[in-house]
Amino acid sequence: MGRWLRICPAEAIPEGHAARVEVGELPIALFNVGGEFHCLDDTCSHALASLSEGELHPSSCSVECPLHGSQFDLRSGEPISLPAVEAVQVHKVEVREGEVWVELEG
Ligand code: FES
Repeated sequence: MGRWLRICPAEAIPEGHAARVEVGELPIALFNVGGEFHCLDDTCSHALASLSEGELHPSSCSVECPLHGSQFDLRSGEPISLPAVEAVQVHKVEVREGEVWVELEG
């Protein structure tokens, strides 16, 4: 079980947008898809690219890496198109009283 951290007000990330947040050494990416928040490690599993800068695809609940175009499912972190073949770590997200909280390991 990890520890829950308060990240930001939910209104700071409008629907259809993403944000990169550094938690210590770990950059994470928060996405708002139709009012539902998802959180992944921000760094693509294929190379050094920031997934929070990618294009969101709400219909498939995925993000497209801005560097080589792999799409990642925001619910599982699994790549759904090449060239990435490894998943990106997902983190649990909750909105509590208008604040976004994320569970991180350690
Ligand atoms: S860096 Fe993301 S697909 Fe290559």
